[in-house]
Parts: sequence; C-alpha cells; structure tokens
Amino acid sequence: MSVDCREALQHFMRHLAAAVSTVGLYPITHSQVGHLCEQALASLADAMGEAPEIKIIRIDDELVADGLPLERSMYVGRLAEMLKNGGVGHIRIRRQVADHELLALIASLAKKGKGNKELCSTENIRLGQVEVRNVRTEEGMKIAGWASGAAGVGISAEEMALFMEMYENVSRRKRLDVVGLSEIVTVFIDAFVNDADPLLALAPLRAMDEYTYTHSTNVCILNLAQATAMGIEGAQLHDIGIAAMLHDVGKLFIPEQILNKTEKLTPAEWDIIRRHPVTGAHYLLDVPGVPRLAVVTAFEHHMRYDLRGYPRVKASGAWRPNIASQMTAISDSYDTLRTERVYCRAKDFQAVEAILRRQAGSQFNPWLVENFLRIMARHHAREERSGTGEAKSP
Ligand SMILES: [Fe+2]
Ligand SMILES: [Fe+2]
Repeated sequence: MSVDCREALQHFMRHLAAAVSTVGLYPITHSQVGHLCEQALASLADAMGEAPEIKIIRIDDELVADGLPLERSMYVGRLAEMLKNGGVGHIRIRRQVADHELLALIASLAKKGKGNKELCSTENIRLGQVEVRNVRTEEGMKIAGWASGAAGVGISAEEMALFMEMYENVSRRKRLDVVGLSEIVTVFIDAFVNDADPLLALAPLRAMDEYTYTHSTNVCILNLAQATAMGIEGAQLHDIGIAAMLHDVGKLFIPEQILNKTEKLTPAEWDIIRRHPVTGAHYLLDVPGVPRLAVVTAFEHHMRYDLRGYPRVKASGAWRPNIASQMTAISDSYDTLRTERVYCRAKDFQAVEAILRRQAGSQFNPWLVENFLRIMARHHAREERSGTGEAKSP
C-alpha cells in the first residue's frame, strides 16, 4: 500500500469515527452524518485504488490494513475499541460498498458498551469474529508434546527426515518438494490454531549440518507467531510460513567450507555469503508451486528497514520490503542470536531483546519488534505458569 493510500485510509478512519460520534448526538438521518459518510466513502475509494477490497485486521487496540500496521491515532484507537466491543477481528470492505451499508455500520458501531451485538455483515462489508482459540485437539496436544520430548528438537523424527531430505535434494540441484513443505507448515499452523504453544518447539541448539534446516523451521514458527498475533490467517498465513521455510534456500548453494569456516571470512567469501538472497530468489522463481511471497522474502530478508542491508537497492523511498520479509528479518536475527555457534555463544533472552529494541527503526520495523516482544513476553509468562524456565525457553 502506497503512502498516499495509507494517508487516505487514515482520513477514512477519521471520518468514520467522527460519523459514529455524531450519531451519538443526532439521528442517523441528520445531514452531518450523511456528509461524514460521503467523505468516508471518498477517502476509502482513494485508499483502495484499483484493489477489489480492503482488509482491516484488529490486533488488540491497533489496526492493520492489508498486512501493514496503521499509524496510531485517536481515531484508529477509537475504531479499534468499537470493533473490540463487538468482538470483531477483521473487516473486509469491497469497492462496491454503498452508502446505506456504511451508514448501517456507523449506526451499529455507535451502540456503546462491551458485547455490542448490533454489528453484522452486509453484502460489501464483511465482519469477521475473533476466533475462540481454546479448543485443544489431539493434534494440538501432540505438537505441544513435541516440546517436552525429542530432546528439545521439537518436530517428529519423520518430519525432520522429510524436510532434511528436501534440503539435500535442493543441494544436489534437484527439485524442491513444495507439497511436502506445505504439509509441515500446515502442522505448525494447526498448532497455533489449537492454542498449543509452538514456540516451545523452537530448537535452541543444533549441529552444524542441521543448521539451515533447524534455523528455517525456527524462523517459520516465529513468523507464524508474529503473523497469527496480527490476525493474519488462511492462505496468507500459509504463504508466510512457506516463505520463512525457504528464506535461506540460497545458502544451500554456498560452498560448505565457507559456511562452516570458523576463522574470519575474507571479503571475497563475504561477497559469496551476501549473494544468497539473490541466488535463493532466482532458484525459487523456477520452482513450480512456490508462492510469489517466498521469492520476495528470500530476496529481501537481509534488506533492513532502512534499506542499508543487502542486496542494495536505491534508498529513494520507492522500495519498501514486504511485511513477510520484515517479519523474517526479526525472526532470523532472533534465532541466530539465540543459537550457539562455533564462533559465537548464544545470547540470553534479555540481551537479544535489548538488541532488537536498539535496532528498532533502523534494522527492524519498530512496530513489528513490539509485536514480536509482546509474543515473547506472553510465551515466557506461560512458561512460568507451567513451571518451565529459561533453560528451555527459545
Ligand atoms: Fe539469510
Ligand atoms: Fe536466515
């Protein structure tokens, strides 16, 4: 979404919130309400551009439009609160939306108090309820069980063998099994939906030859946690998982002696390492069934929020890394910093948290860092309640 569109969306929020307040004072038929409704529709049309619809997700007191967090403002906060009171998790508005539909939404949002039952969908304004996530299925429990078993590896032996085999196949220039990969991502997503705590499945230590495999599953789990907390679901969530699994696929084309080198790398060796996003994206472009998002994420995951990473792009403001790439950058750094490596000891959670906060706004999207740290705080609180501690925490 362009800067202009985001600005138009902020106007839409302002007019909508103002219309709801006006309905608190005057009848819905008042000309002032009609005028604000018209302005809201005009701003919405500007915000949507050519898109057939816009999806606004509520994450507690914040709103995310088409995957990007909206700047906090009084209006955004008020609308988020109204939606929360009605138990609404997301709104989809189609471009054909009519003024009577928006007026109906305004009227129902104006009903105050918790448990607002007035909110309901119309043909072009679809409201999605917040999911109730307290159902524990057998599968969910099985995944939660991984955490305490399998020496902290966190994934079943068969799945581990399957995914490692896929990686080996890529190394030998064979085709990647996207279907198999998709199944693994589905298992992780189910765990989130069933309210297990898949973060417990993160593997803190790994052998060097398993590094890319284990790192990829960890980044996948962390990305799914970020995306789920943002209310992203369905195919979009699945693609984010696949993209995370494949973000470092370009590393499989780097000679092992460079990847495993314990001494300082030469500038030429660094160049080879820095080429892995481009190599990975090129490779994935040719694999049938790989979502476009995975190609983009492989290409952008080292780009940094201020675009000072690699591959280098012109910092003209025209390039903005995809939200999945920005999430991957955080999960990637988190997992790398928390991992014991031949040349670097694993850092504890507090040290990593401090690094992420310090780099928020330069290396990382500051809003996503906050989202990530909130998830981690919740995870740690959960761990404390269940009596496990830092020794097992990711
Ligand atoms: Fe990478
Ligand atoms: Fe990575």
